[in-house]
Amino acid sequence: TSTGFDVRRIGGRIGAEILGVDLSGNLEPALVSEINSALVEHKALVFRDQHLDDAGQLRFASLFGELTAAHPTVPSVDGQPQILPVDADEGIRSNVWHTDVTFVRTPPKASTLRSIVVPPYGGNTLIANSAAAYRDLPEPLRELADRLWAVHTNAYDYAAPKSEKAAEYRKRFVSRKYRTVHPVVRVHPETGERGLFIGGFAQSIVGLGPSDSRDLLRIFQSYVTRPENIVRVAWTPGDVVLFDNRITQHYAPDDYGDLPRLLHRVTVAGDVPAGVDG
Ligand code: SIN
Repeated sequence: TSTGFDVRRIGGRIGAEILGVDLSGNLEPALVSEINSALVEHKALVFRDQHLDDAGQLRFASLFGELTAAHPTVPSVDGQPQILPVDADEGIRSNVWHTDVTFVRTPPKASTLRSIVVPPYGGNTLIANSAAAYRDLPEPLRELADRLWAVHTNAYDYAAPKSEKAAEYRKRFVSRKYRTVHPVVRVHPETGERGLFIGGFAQSIVGLGPSDSRDLLRIFQSYVTRPENIVRVAWTPGDVVLFDNRITQHYAPDDYGDLPRLLHRVTVAGDVPAGVDG
């Protein structure tokens, strides 16, 4: 139903491939607005075979808002302060379900990922629909979630790093410790849709002890990561994925051994998450 491109759904509850757009071209505001509408509807968009360079990825991401620094603590690509290397050469993995950078007051609105080096198998990215997860909750749990707040932090008891490089990376990752609270149910600022806003950095629930917090977060999280809620993106070099970080989580399976994999991430700034009471 769009004027400028075709949308092909690739999952029952999340994800679409966008066909017929050249992201290196000059994208008119009307087209950008349609892509944004597709983004809030499908939550994760895949643009195949784009072969952007860093400048092209920065230009594309900036069509959706102001860009953030690459990361609050982790170094950017040399000379590119807004580009984060997602670099598996160093044994660094993102195999924890998370929403990007939720430990700050204004977590990103959206992220773009661009594949540069892709292993011959594995190395996919899984993206989950946290609004569908909220809708799937039994009503008493939904009503409970509506009232809760979670503490998000980048400093927690991570699994032991697998290599010296990974240990160094972890040290950088927590070199400045962040801690913030967000509502467990986030109201999407553009659609009003409600979604569970938790993920790996949500470490406890305000007002509960560690054991109750853990159990409750595990229950909520189990609804996010149901297979029905997930789209699995198998990369080929030159692809671009744009996902709505306000209402999704993602996970990169560690299933490609020591094979190289390199993505570049560019992130669009977001607002303070609003709960059901504003
Ligand atoms: C990320 O967590 O942003 C990286 C995802 C990936 O490596 O596929």
